Amino acid sequence: MSSSQHIAIVTGAGSGIGAAIAERLAKDGARVMMNDINASSLASVKDKLIASGISDDHIAIQHGDVSDETDMKTLFDHTMDQFGDLSLVVNNAGILQQKAFVEIKCDDWDKMIAVHVRGCFLGCHFAIPIMLKRGGGVIINTASQLGQIGAADLVHYATAKAAIIGLTKSLAREFGQSGLRINAVAPGPINTDLVLGLSKDWRDAKASQLPLGHFGEPSDVAATVAFLASEDARIYVGQTLGPNSGDVML
Ligand SMILES: NC(=O)c1ccc[n+]([C@@H]2O[C@H](COP(=O)([O-])OP(=O)(O)OC[C@H]3O[C@@H](n4cnc5c(N)ncnc54)[C@H](O)[C@@H]3O)[C@@H](O)[C@H]2O)c1
Repeated sequence: MSSSQHIAIVTGAGSGIGAAIAERLAKDGARVMMNDINASSLASVKDKLIASGISDDHIAIQHGDVSDETDMKTLFDHTMDQFGDLSLVVNNAGILQQKAFVEIKCDDWDKMIAVHVRGCFLGCHFAIPIMLKRGGGVIINTASQLGQIGAADLVHYATAKAAIIGLTKSLAREFGQSGLRINAVAPGPINTDLVLGLSKDWRDAKASQLPLGHFGEPSDVAATVAFLASEDARIYVGQTLGPNSGDVML
């Protein structure tokens, strides 16, 4: 299936990488349901996409919290009501918090795990029965290279992203023979609001260490997602692709 034939859900589409993924998929001709916890940013992205020439019957929005079971059920129900099918889910919503490990409170830990791990779990939990019934589908989970290598002062974030990679590989093994392709992307530093929340010292040091010498753009991650969603990636299962400026080489 090419990107143009997909009916997709993209979570965390109100900003950064998720907005770029929704834009790329919609420009390729897919029908896209965009989710975000922030209703106003979601509406702005929708307006921007329509202003750029994307037909308004190809995009829809449903705000909600990816870690909330009821919100996620509503998201999937509305997608089926609106578009009648679902072939692609991109579990992308995320948060970042930079803290020394000894400063991380239990609430910080629980929220980080809830948004990333419970959020991806719920996205897969509601997607997989629909995809099994239709005989196939694609799920792409947004991890991070920090889930592959760990990160000081971001322990809860890196732990959550490592869990997403484990979830992806395990589901890929369980459902590969049922026609589902489940993969992850593990971006390196990408120019979005999330990274602008990290200290300038960290960002400057990071850029100088990168083999490419610069951060990626949200559209670079969107291109990786578009590839994984396409038939060109038909033998990619349980993989973690790294649009990361060469920062991590596995
Ligand atoms: N920017 C990077 O360098 C980078 C690197 C690796 C991985 N990532 C991952 O990419 C994804 C997107 O990050 P981004 O850089 O575009 O950040 P961003 O902050 O620009 O976008 C994240 C979006 O997720 C939404 N969101 C947060 N919590 C939510 C929730 N509970 N339910 C629904 N939506 C929620 C936010 O409102 C926001 O619109 C995240 O999973 C992030 O961890 C980013």
